[in-house]
Amino acid sequence: MVKHEFLREYLPATKLFSPDMLWRYVEDYEKVMLKPSGGGGGAGIIQLTDKGNDRYLVHAGSTKRVVEGREKTVSYVKSLFRPKQYLLQPLISLGRIDGRPFDVRVMVQRSGKKSPWTVTGWVAKLAGPGYVVTNVARSRGKVLPLHTAIRLSNVEASDDLLDEIRHVTLEAADTLGKAYPTLREVGFDLGIDIEGKPWIIEANFRPSLSLFRKLKDQTFYKQIIAMRKK
Ligand SMILES: Nc1ncnc2c1ncn2[C@@H]1O[C@H](COP(=O)(O)OP(=O)(O)O)[C@@H](O)[C@H]1O
Ligand SMILES: [Mg+2]
Repeated sequence: MVKHEFLREYLPATKLFSPDMLWRYVEDYEKVMLKPSGGGGGAGIIQLTDKGNDRYLVHAGSTKRVVEGREKTVSYVKSLFRPKQYLLQPLISLGRIDGRPFDVRVMVQRSGKKSPWTVTGWVAKLAGPGYVVTNVARSRGKVLPLHTAIRLSNVEASDDLLDEIRHVTLEAADTLGKAYPTLREVGFDLGIDIEGKPWIIEANFRPSLSLFRKLKDQTFYKQIIAMRKK
């Protein structure tokens, strides 16, 4: 997706973790996310914030700790690492509802290799209190209809935000579909920052339906199942 000029602007700058690169990111972005490569349910994700005076706030799970000095900070974040390679990304200042960040799961499907991709469902995931990840199971978060979440949030949403989300995810699915011809569905985790800009956080190739199952309105759920049967 990085090679696709249109999509590149929707992808957070991503580098492999090293202590040097961490401090470069902290200098450039002030707030940084450290994520295990390959992902998995929000596990092992760490947020690091520059507090000034050589002090750094490290937030993982629901635990927050301020560490003094770069060396101690690197040892501390490493002690939190899962046995995986770690990636660095700028922290996207996700839109919030009652102080809790939310992002969006967008389901994009096609019925065959030559069929067009369609968006068959979207839903907002709200982080549980005190968490930096919105993974519903991990953070005891909840789901909301997307338009409700945007309305309740602090996001400066333009009238065509939903169209933009549709366009970006369809383009992304199309690009991934060319690299993976047997791919039939992608569940995108899409952040919306407070300025109303969407960001592609993750593409899940085996997206679970449980988020859509949790919505009161089962239209998307039924649509997704129907597309799987085509
Ligand atoms: N760069 C980022 N900025 C802000 N929040 C992020 C960022 N990366 C991940 N998150 C939050 O963490 C959650 C989990 O990250 P994700 O990349 O989807 O990994 P996983 O495979 O563990 O689900 C996202 O849904 C989002 O809420
Ligand atoms: Mg995810």
